[in-house]
Amino acid sequence: MWVAAPTATQAADGLGPLYNARSCATCHPRGAGGRPPDPAVEGDQGVGYAIKLNDDPVYGRQIQSNAVLRQVIEGRPRVTYREEEIRFPDGAIVRLRRPTPVVTDLGYGPLAEATVMSARVPPRVHGMGLLDRIPAGEIEAEAARQAAAAGPVAGRVNRVTVAGKPEVGRFGWKAMHPTLDHQDAEAFSLDIGMSTPAFRDPWGDCTPVQTACRAAPHGDSKQFEGLEIPSTVIGLIDGYLRDLPPDGSLEASKDKAGIALFIDTGCAACHRPSWRTAVAPAHPSLSDRDIFPHSDMLLHDLGPGLADALPMGEARGQDWRTTPLWGLNRLAAKDGQLSLLHDGRARSVTEAILWHGGEAEEAKGRFMNLPAEARKRLVRYVLGL
Ligand code: HEC
Ligand code: HEC
Repeated sequence: MWVAAPTATQAADGLGPLYNARSCATCHPRGAGGRPPDPAVEGDQGVGYAIKLNDDPVYGRQIQSNAVLRQVIEGRPRVTYREEEIRFPDGAIVRLRRPTPVVTDLGYGPLAEATVMSARVPPRVHGMGLLDRIPAGEIEAEAARQAAAAGPVAGRVNRVTVAGKPEVGRFGWKAMHPTLDHQDAEAFSLDIGMSTPAFRDPWGDCTPVQTACRAAPHGDSKQFEGLEIPSTVIGLIDGYLRDLPPDGSLEASKDKAGIALFIDTGCAACHRPSWRTAVAPAHPSLSDRDIFPHSDMLLHDLGPGLADALPMGEARGQDWRTTPLWGLNRLAAKDGQLSLLHDGRARSVTEAILWHGGEAEEAKGRFMNLPAEARKRLVRYVLGL
């Protein structure tokens, strides 16, 4: 939990001046995912719901919805929905909600004409340490295998440049972060407004136009490498995340009929069931083991229904990283009230599948044509992961 500078406790100050939340856990409670605001509940902000921007000249890369004393918040992220009905060939009906993100109470004037918004909920962050240990070369090999195979599925690596070096992106909804360190450091900057070795500005996402924010006291201190969050603290947080296990999903599923459906329907083409982690003697619990995240860690074009207009690295608007499906087992009882997909629009696994298009159009079609019993079985398999 971080507080505003200046304070007596230099180790904990430097929050903001503009920020979204005071701690990682506000948005990632016990590693679970977040949710969008509920438009039916006045003032509800959801959990960790954030609106990303394409570098607005005033607002920067994200709307910060909180501010320390005497600073002005940038705005309040909200969402409105339009309901749509989808009818299955067997007559079953599912209602989808199509979101439009909005920001109310803009504190620094209108957004620039060219600015686009993309809403995101925090993903589940269990099993990050294991995903971090999938060898980059294996992810590249998976992309090559898909490119060579027939059919619509052709995942691509998001190549991102960090400190002048090209790396394989793997974290975030568009796989724009190559390492946990990088993802966490950006969270400190954009979400909490604190400086780290990778993002050295103590004012986080404040632009030069936001002079009051830039002039406010900050928490950089000599004893912490001239920063608010020194590399040792980043190391501790990475260590914590690395060790959050993916909750019961570390075994191969025993549901043979479920896995057969998952493969035959075409889900496994992207949601690759298993990987083997690299040998890492320093981390025996992460080293050289079979894991079952159900993701190929690649970007796929999922069509216009899910697209935003905010490219990240080599990910275009319509490209998203295959979401690892492990960890849903803890939430199975909530199917119907879940917040799935990058902006939390899907309330159930079935809704999430129905939003798939583009490279996943055929798989979705096969799902819709399954008998009701088989659809249920497939959903149960996904929720068992
Ligand atoms: C304001 C809410 C908020 C705060 C605070 C926050 N996060 Fe996040 N986090 C998010 C959102 C939203 C995403 C998804 C971003 C994206 O990919 O567009 C995310 C993504 C992540 C991911 C990537 C997970 C994956 O599946 O690839 C990790 C890891 C993570 N956050 C760790 C942290 C850590 C560590 C902190 C504290 C330093 C933190 N977050 C603080 C909202 C938050
Ligand atoms: C072409 C690749 C591809 C195929 C085929 C595919 N998916 Fe996905 N899946 C994705 C991507 C990419 C996302 C992330 C989309 C987003 O968040 O906007 C995703 C997201 C999901 C989610 C949401 C997870 C979460 O935590 O938000 C579920 C559930 C899911 N897929 C299940 C399935 C099932 C079941 C099938 C088979 C019927 C399937 N998918 C087929 C690529 C694919």
